[in-house]
Amino acid sequence: MTQTFGVKDRVVAVTGGGSGIGYAVVELLLSQGANVSFIDVSEKGLAEAESKLKAAGHPGQFMSCKVDVREGKQVDDWIAKTVEKLGKLDGAVNFAGVIPKCINIERVEDLNDEDWKFVIDVNLTGVMNCMRAQIKSMNNKGSIINASSIAGLAGFPKNAAYTAAKHGVIGLTRSAAKEVGDREIRVNCIAPGVIDTPMQRQSSAIRGEDFEMKWQIKRKGQPEEVAGLVAWLLCDASSFITGTIQVIDGGFMC
Ligand SMILES: NC(=O)c1ccc[n+]([C@@H]2O[C@H](COP(=O)([O-])OP(=O)(O)OC[C@H]3O[C@@H](n4cnc5c(N)ncnc54)[C@H](O)[C@@H]3O)[C@@H](O)[C@H]2O)c1
Repeated sequence: MTQTFGVKDRVVAVTGGGSGIGYAVVELLLSQGANVSFIDVSEKGLAEAESKLKAAGHPGQFMSCKVDVREGKQVDDWIAKTVEKLGKLDGAVNFAGVIPKCINIERVEDLNDEDWKFVIDVNLTGVMNCMRAQIKSMNNKGSIINASSIAGLAGFPKNAAYTAAKHGVIGLTRSAAKEVGDREIRVNCIAPGVIDTPMQRQSSAIRGEDFEMKWQIKRKGQPEEVAGLVAWLLCDASSFITGTIQVIDGGFMC
């Protein structure tokens, strides 16, 4: 039986909707009658997502376009267009993200400027650009969910830029939650463990090895399992939850 979330007729903005967890979120929300505006920097990812969603014929309506979350003006225009076309903004899911090209190679003393800037710009400044635009346009009682990681909760060697960015997302989330609580807008983040997506497979390929699955549930998480948690955080069932980090990692950090 499919779980029902109370998101019908809500308007939700999603970043990174062309792949992995972001795509699973878009699909789940549309299947439950929410209207979704999603973006991605990858034209290929967007085209594939659009054609799969059209073929599925979900009850919710969607709009999508190419936006680079590093570009504040592009993000502002996307959110303005979302409100203009879909009439309002009830929720936002900021999941666009990248891993460093030098993951598992560089120690802090070897970090190269380009890789550091790339990862911080997308994973941290990108989330800030999105929240800044979304909070201005969001209805009272809205909900924002940002992508942190288990790398936001502990140090991960040879992955400092990503780890620092994901720690930063937690600080950004907590600060915003303290600013918008008077409007009953909730701001939470998710800390996934190892979830089976293109990003995770790319990370494993660069590492040259897979994780040894030292966590408790001996498999990778599925994007759909994260999407369910996101949908729950968007709906009224979680209406008193804000400023939190929701860990979804099969017991990696326990
Ligand atoms: N998969 C995991 O194991 C895992 C674990 C912890 C955290 N996360 C986080 O979850 C989020 C989603 O990850 P995923 O595994 O689904 O990755 P993914 O690579 O499958 O999807 C990420 C999407 O973000 C898009 N993107 C990248 N840069 C962008 C930019 N500048 N502007 C707009 N879009 C951009 C990509 O094109 C891609 O479609 C990321 O923030 C990631 O760091 C993932």
